Amino acid sequence: MTRHFLALNQYTKEELDGLFTLTRELKEKQKQCIPHRFLEGKNVALIFEKSSTRTRVSFEVGVAQLGAHPLFISSGTSQMGRGEPIKDTARVMARYCDGVMIRTYGQEIVEEFARYSAVPVINGLTDLFHPCQIMADLFTVMEHKGKYEGLKYAWVGDGNNMANTWIEAAAILGFDLTLACPTGYEPDRQVWDWAQQRATSSITITEDPEEAVRDADVINTDVWASMGQEQEQKEREVAFQGYCLDDALVALAKPDCMVLHCLPAHRGEEITDSVIEGPRSAVWDEAENRLHVQKAIMARLMGGA
Ligand code: CP
Ligand code: NVA
Repeated sequence: MTRHFLALNQYTKEELDGLFTLTRELKEKQKQCIPHRFLEGKNVALIFEKSSTRTRVSFEVGVAQLGAHPLFISSGTSQMGRGEPIKDTARVMARYCDGVMIRTYGQEIVEEFARYSAVPVINGLTDLFHPCQIMADLFTVMEHKGKYEGLKYAWVGDGNNMANTWIEAAAILGFDLTLACPTGYEPDRQVWDWAQQRATSSITITEDPEEAVRDADVINTDVWASMGQEQEQKEREVAFQGYCLDDALVALAKPDCMVLHCLPAHRGEEITDSVIEGPRSAVWDEAENRLHVQKAIMARLMGGA
């Protein structure tokens, strides 16, 4: 059966750990210029219905480093933007390509795409999840702290696609996570219930950012208005007052805490310039690691690694 990467909840801890191990190997090979062309001669379609810098570039470069050819397809200039059904696009793509990455709106779109796709489909961000990003985040934690387990994680901000994916990761991988979200901006209810049923670790939510970051090893935040929510920007700026990750908030965490942000960041809104540029910030390593984890995911799903 074709294996996809649509959400972390489709994977076991052992499988995710296996992807981290492969990521480490591929990153090392890349740094040493040792070829690792698991997708030699293949073609991977990269479909974007939303904007992107990191996802587009890291997938294009990653596909090329694996020996394959990337095809950038924007919905606006393809028939998808003119209403061609997802299920038709999915079946056609699989006749040309060996894998597909898609960034879109509803999670049901990637799920429908995958249902009709004979080749692996990777979620490059939906309104609900951003699984490639959280894999990169956790890999960055492992590089900085030597492990992801036994650490205390904090989320400050919107209960968005990033927060939902962190919740799934905490439940599957077994680490403690405290989220601070304003009322009305909590994570997805179904994701929350799924995680609470399955988790052996502590996954809690508060309205108080100070409570969430106290003694944290890893602090994560993200924009207040995600792609597709631009018209809510002003009301969100009001709702998220007090949720800016600044030096005073970071000072409540462990002295050697890490700060993560998937980027793009809005300095002065969810994070201050001094925190993102400061000594606790690991955002550039985090961005780089998108490349390495995605190569591992593609090599495993499309190249038999
Ligand atoms: N973090 C992330 O997915 O960035 P882009 O929107 O630039 O792809
Ligand atoms: N939550 C953000 C993440 C961007 C990478 C968004 O969906 O726009």
